[in-house]
Amino acid sequence: MPTDTLRNLLSAFDPELPLDRARTIPNSWYTAPEVYAAERDVVFARTWQVVGRVDQVAAGGAFLTAEIAGEPVLVVRGDDGVLRGFFNVCRHRAAPILNEPCGTATKLRCRYHGWTYDLTGRLRGTPEFDGVAEFCKEENGLVPVVVAEWGPFVWIHLTPPREPVTEFVGPLKAWIESRGGFARLVWHARKTYDLTCNWKVYVDNYLDGGYHVNTVHPGLAGVLDYREYRTVCDGHTVIQSSPIKAADGETGRTRTGDLAAYWWVYPNFMVNLYAGVMDTNLVLPLGVDRCRVVFDFYFAAGTDDGFVRESIAVAEQVQAEDVGICEEVQRGLNSRSYTTGRFSVKRENGGYHFHQLLGRVLGGNSQE
Ligand code: FES
Ligand SMILES: [Fe+2]
Repeated sequence: MPTDTLRNLLSAFDPELPLDRARTIPNSWYTAPEVYAAERDVVFARTWQVVGRVDQVAAGGAFLTAEIAGEPVLVVRGDDGVLRGFFNVCRHRAAPILNEPCGTATKLRCRYHGWTYDLTGRLRGTPEFDGVAEFCKEENGLVPVVVAEWGPFVWIHLTPPREPVTEFVGPLKAWIESRGGFARLVWHARKTYDLTCNWKVYVDNYLDGGYHVNTVHPGLAGVLDYREYRTVCDGHTVIQSSPIKAADGETGRTRTGDLAAYWWVYPNFMVNLYAGVMDTNLVLPLGVDRCRVVFDFYFAAGTDDGFVRESIAVAEQVQAEDVGICEEVQRGLNSRSYTTGRFSVKRENGGYHFHQLLGRVLGGNSQE
């Protein structure tokens, strides 16, 4: 049951106002531990979450681990080729079963007291456990989570999903398939950034419809046709797109083609596409005022190393600019002077869409 404090915090936002009358979610949603705890239950445990890449778990015995808003999970490919997901929590004393981000294993062995599980999650070995009454190994396998593969991504759902992942990402799926899919893109590198801001500050910044591009990202501004920048909200997704202008310098050399497309998938995943270049951003809450953003960089097969290096450098520059402003915003959200703000009708429909999706689930007004 929500406490009165939480109920008061959550009722402070109206997700049903039209954009021209709307206010943002209040600053307390970025600073209150009660809201963070509620998000773990109604946002992160009830959405499809990317936990890694299919190439990390391609072979039998390959595994990866992840943490979704504090919930440890593991995904492992069985010798039968089936991908399975489990809470990464031993049934004996709750120690993690796997500690590495990824790797291969023939069985899953807890390092605390040595219990072993097979790759299908069944409990196999329980040293020195004979004589324990009413203990049934069959009932003490790893607790499963729902796992799915779509595109180059591995997804999990901590509770029974309301729809398959392909429906959840429906507009993105239709768009990408109309452009030939992800097929020719190859993963090259991962970069991780820890930020001192609430995860939603990063998402808000991403979804402001290009409003900050000219002011915060001078390099990127040179290749985007800002007047034609468009934001379309559709279900659990928002797409922001802009025609590309020819430009000099490393941004101009690495950001080409006819269109830049920035897809967001509720609540915390982004897919950024240019001709032959894709990066994904996964925003992982680490606490009420901390988050980690994981970038994975993909390029068209055969792209030369110099281009890859230059393209990643451009993305890192843009990210450094975003990190700076997001951390400053978090400090402002802690100020007694600020509670909510208004949205630009012309630019910020994507950000309000995010707040509406959140507001409806946190306020309990729908089953989004
Ligand atoms: S906690 Fe895993 S074997 Fe004891
Ligand atoms: Fe930005």
